[in-house]
Amino acid sequence: MRAFDRVGVVGCGLMGAGIAEVCARAGLDVKVVEADEPALAAGRKRVVASLDRGRRGGKVTEADRAAAIQRLDFHTDIAALADRDLVIEAVAERQEVKRAVFRALDGVLADPEAVIASNTSSIPIIELAMVMHRPHQVVGVHFFNPVPVQRLIEIIPTQLTADAVTERVAAFSTDTLGKTVVRARDRAGFVVNALLVPYLLSGVRMLESGIASAEDIDNGMVLGCAHPMGPLRLLDLIGLDTARSIAESMYEEYKEPLYAPPPLLRRMVAAGTLGRKTGRGFYDYAKGSATPS
Ligand code: CAA
Repeated sequence: MRAFDRVGVVGCGLMGAGIAEVCARAGLDVKVVEADEPALAAGRKRVVASLDRGRRGGKVTEADRAAAIQRLDFHTDIAALADRDLVIEAVAERQEVKRAVFRALDGVLADPEAVIASNTSSIPIIELAMVMHRPHQVVGVHFFNPVPVQRLIEIIPTQLTADAVTERVAAFSTDTLGKTVVRARDRAGFVVNALLVPYLLSGVRMLESGIASAEDIDNGMVLGCAHPMGPLRLLDLIGLDTARSIAESMYEEYKEPLYAPPPLLRRMVAAGTLGRKTGRGFYDYAKGSATPS
């Protein structure tokens, strides 16, 4: 028996689209909710483009692609999620935005046993759980980008999460989605970002202080340490606005300077050069290949 059958995903940006894709490919019935029609259309396009990429790479067959698309249902009204037994929130990494989604879900989900998960990278799960009347049903389930490719899920129970809920999402992550789970306490950054974010921010500070060029910083980590991509390219993949929000949450939690977003990152966000999703970040993607900006 599967841990969940009817999954809802709120938000269909980079992470939400990937989560919806892996759930649909695992054979689940998936409803996706976005704020408005343009965001929904962009989200649907993102899922299909990723399935196409998987097919080109021989990871997804034509039949699996078609079946996954069939299992996905797109909505702009959160009330469409009433019959879900698991909802995964993957909206923007801002506490007030996420809390509004949790508040809305509280009034919508019919099943008292329904589990509500957040894909937040850095916001304390308990802050989201406490806006609901069922905080024991809330848990952190953190995926990695690109979701169809990365094999990890972090699971973060709060002080109030029921053990049965934690075990149910762990079984879902391993048995249904085929991922590997690490468990962490409800502290900003959990395991991976607590290690990764200071490293990425160090890359920005290194560029800002003129120690090396973007390409040399990235080549240093790719060719010297066998990372799949260097810190600046990875920031472009994550999205600079998301990275800044994560760093701010972590700085807020620990007040450690190593988590503080450096001025260059802040200015790039202000300028709207957010990485791959806007065509320009530390690199320029407009010409088809990445060249330093
Ligand atoms: N479904 C299944 N497989 C897919 C796929 C899909 N939708 N899309 C791509 N793939 C497969 C490809 O077929 C390919 O497989 P092979 O290696 O077996 O050929 C593989 O995934 C890699 O794809 P590409 O060849 O297209 O791309 P690449 O080799 O240039 O790798 C990358 C791109 C996967 C992004 C790689 O550079 C990488 O892993 N980078 C690091 C990413 C990372 O660190 N992510 C974590 C970010 S932090 C985070 O997410 C958390 C947070 O809170 C911020």
